[in-house]
Amino acid sequence: MDIKGIIFDLDGVICFTDKYHYLAWKTMADKYRIYFDETINNRLRGVGRMESLEIILERADRNYSRSQKEEMAEEKNEIYKKLLNKMTPADLSDEVRDTLQELRKRGYLLAIGSSSKNTKFILERIGLKDFFDAISDGTNISRSKPDPEVFVKAADFLGLEPGECLVVEDAVSGVDAAISGGFYSAGIGEASGHLHVTIKMSSFEDLLDCCAIINP
Ligand code: BG6
Ligand code: MG
Repeated sequence: MDIKGIIFDLDGVICFTDKYHYLAWKTMADKYRIYFDETINNRLRGVGRMESLEIILERADRNYSRSQKEEMAEEKNEIYKKLLNKMTPADLSDEVRDTLQELRKRGYLLAIGSSSKNTKFILERIGLKDFFDAISDGTNISRSKPDPEVFVKAADFLGLEPGECLVVEDAVSGVDAAISGGFYSAGIGEASGHLHVTIKMSSFEDLLDCCAIINP
């Protein structure tokens, strides 16, 4: 393997905003009396906003029109953004900050590959607005993970081929996307249990050892 670039998912990898996604969807689902729990939430990791809503609505006992669905997704996003507004650079863990800085020192190109349309806002909140060499997010894709589009664009922005990049993910859909796009993958949390993930991580800083083994 000759890895030149690392593409990071955002929610649940760089920061804990996956928890805010859950809280916001839970508030919305409770309001509409739709059953929702952490297991269902795991299926939403990496999946776009409207696609996530469709998964939640599998448990609804009535149908909703397109405009009602748009309203529900908007309600969730408003709750989510209020939670994001409270974030500060202190919400970026030392472990993630130090690991990113060390990877940069070792010469890797670093990018974000996230389905979220709130990516740039979150990066600004946690003090990483200008850190990455490229950002590919929900605003520049038409298909969300497990489609590889977001990572293919990120690699393209970095000027690299998929086979030169490692994708770091907490979502099963994200590892599926990486594999189908021809990327190497590193899974944390849920994604570390993926059968075909290249590297299983138990913590973010594991990346340092993994990269040293991959590119000695
Ligand atoms: C992904 C999250 O990063 O972004 C998903 O894992 C989320 O849970 C998706 O649905 C879209 O996010 P947003 O911020 O555009 O609603
Ligand atoms: Mg994620």
